[in-house]
Amino acid sequence: MVKKLYLIGIGPGDIKYLTLEAKSVIERLSLFYVSKKEGRKEDLTLRKIALLKAIKGDNFKIVALPFPERTKGKDYREKIRAWRTEKAKILREALVNADEEEAGFLIWGDPSLFDGHIDIMRELERELPIAWEVIPGLSSFQILCAKERISLTEISTPVIFHTPRTLLKSKPPEHPAVVFLDNYETFQKFKDKEFYIYWGAYVGSEDELYVSGRLREVWEKIHNVRKDLKHKKGYLMEVYVLKPLKPPGEVSDSN
Ligand SMILES: C[S@@+](CC[C@H](N)C(=O)[O-])C[C@H]1O[C@@H](n2cnc3c(N)ncnc32)[C@H](O)[C@@H]1O
Repeated sequence: MVKKLYLIGIGPGDIKYLTLEAKSVIERLSLFYVSKKEGRKEDLTLRKIALLKAIKGDNFKIVALPFPERTKGKDYREKIRAWRTEKAKILREALVNADEEEAGFLIWGDPSLFDGHIDIMRELERELPIAWEVIPGLSSFQILCAKERISLTEISTPVIFHTPRTLLKSKPPEHPAVVFLDNYETFQKFKDKEFYIYWGAYVGSEDELYVSGRLREVWEKIHNVRKDLKHKKGYLMEVYVLKPLKPPGEVSDSN
């Protein structure tokens, strides 16, 4: 049985973005878990395998866990909790049945951002004698900011992290907003307002693509690029920053 699990943030999956700590933990371990993706999304599992191969050759075992897709609908939080409990059961089974005493779970970006595995481990540790540790990774939004050469916080400006659900309910953000998981082009809600948008797809990978500019001028381009990419690749990994309009480089006067 696995007695210690490492939740390893792997950034966008390219070895050059892996932290030295993540790399050395991967070097040491021989068993890794990933969530199983099928169909055109299988690419996501294959990219994790490629990262492991780049570090370990063929010297590792990988278990792709068949987590269910999340069901959508009302009672969002309740549904997420139930989904995580389902995932916890599947992970528990895999941990209990493993021969290894230590293992790693590979997580895109950083495990603290829009990822349920920390909560799942909190649930599991109540019933299993298991230790666990989080290894930080470079989040997609950090790579986006670097590529676009933007300072998110300028001079002490607060920043908010959104999913489309929360952005949809919010007023036009007064401070920079970082948006993940937006399958609904929620930025269109603000297309007549004064914002810059910095939008990135598959950031930090060989397919990375960026579009930035005044929201009212580039939203349609983003819409078209999104459609194209989804069609070509079958899935889209995207993250964006919405900034209340100020010329690039001009600092916030919020303080
Ligand atoms: C479940 S969240 C995990 C976020 C991750 N923990 C992070 O720190 O980036 C997955 C979402 O993050 C965003 N994302 C993750 N990796 C990305 C990448 N390489 N390029 C663009 N967006 C990415 C996408 O919005 C994707 O749908």
